[in-house]
Amino acid sequence: MKAVVAGASGGIGQPLSLLLKACKEVDHLSLYDVVNTPGVTADLSHISSVAKIEGYLPADDGMKKAFTGADIVVIPAGIPRKPGMTRDDLFKINAGIVQGLIQGVADYCPNAYVLVISNPVNSTVPIAAEVLTKAGKFNPKKLFGVTTLDVVRAETFVQSITGARDPAETVIPVIGGHSGETIVPLFSQAKPAVKIPEDKLEELTKRVQFGGDEVVKAKDGAGSATLSMAYAGYRFAERVMQAAKGKTGIVEPTFVYLPGIEGGDAIAKETGCDYFSVPVELGTDGAKKAVNILGSANAYEKKLIEKCVEDLKGNIAKGVEFVKNPP
Ligand code: NAI
Repeated sequence: MKAVVAGASGGIGQPLSLLLKACKEVDHLSLYDVVNTPGVTADLSHISSVAKIEGYLPADDGMKKAFTGADIVVIPAGIPRKPGMTRDDLFKINAGIVQGLIQGVADYCPNAYVLVISNPVNSTVPIAAEVLTKAGKFNPKKLFGVTTLDVVRAETFVQSITGARDPAETVIPVIGGHSGETIVPLFSQAKPAVKIPEDKLEELTKRVQFGGDEVVKAKDGAGSATLSMAYAGYRFAERVMQAAKGKTGIVEPTFVYLPGIEGGDAIAKETGCDYFSVPVELGTDGAKKAVNILGSANAYEKKLIEKCVEDLKGNIAKGVEFVKNPP
């Protein structure tokens, strides 16, 4: 299993690379960034884990060397938010960065699983799909927008109500997109079931939707979530790799191109969105099946889904347009 981190020297990239270096599923770790990969690679190379490690800069065909033969490419490249910015404000810069990296995937490792962390995920995933389609290399089963941090936050924040020792034991599906009100936690679908007091539900929902702002504010200009995101990105990547190696029963919410996945068409028709985060069953070839849990949402959650869809449609169209009709 060869894993690539593109944007490996950044706030997310470094701890994510550390976790992947120590990950038992990874045999070969390849780091790519426009700066500092020699240092990060040298540092991580002293860790006594299985994964052999290499790092590249763009010079001397660095991207080609980094990406060739990759089984999984995780992309946390691009600028993060500062206080007062929305994820959509990042579009101008990050759209081009993601476009360039996905072109590299199309050229050098078109069969790899691609995990997009770079924001705004609601638009960068459609950009990735369009670039791969243009190159004739799009496999919807292998393109994922990483929304795991929203799931991780929901699990953590609900602990104050469940009192569970291990927050990750409560599974909360979070669907929709990955920014503000497009993030829809379905607490009614928690497993095991959780009874959220009426007066706490709105506060809890808002905290999951805007949890990223807490970190942006606390970092006071020094960026957005990096360590919790590295954990979340690692958790999702590990599950994709485990499923690729044959482990069954793995279901994770992720932002995917629905019409390309079994069960996804009906959800796309129901929501009017081709891209949506839903629980996806992972298999040896990537996304095996999209699980439709929209129908099980309660009245409060159905209202949240309506608002989500309203915003998400524009975010998706912006990404598609960026590649189809370049600015
Ligand atoms: P950062 O600025 O610390 O790191 C970004 C890295 O990307 C830098 O090392 C930079 O040199 C590199 N980079 C820039 N252009 C590149 C290119 N063309 N090729 C390769 N590498 C390139 O930013 P941070 O905090 O690590 O965040 C990265 C992205 O992740 C941001 O867009 C941020 O909004 C997003 N993010 C996504 C989350 C999610 O839940 N999906 C959560 C938190 C952040």
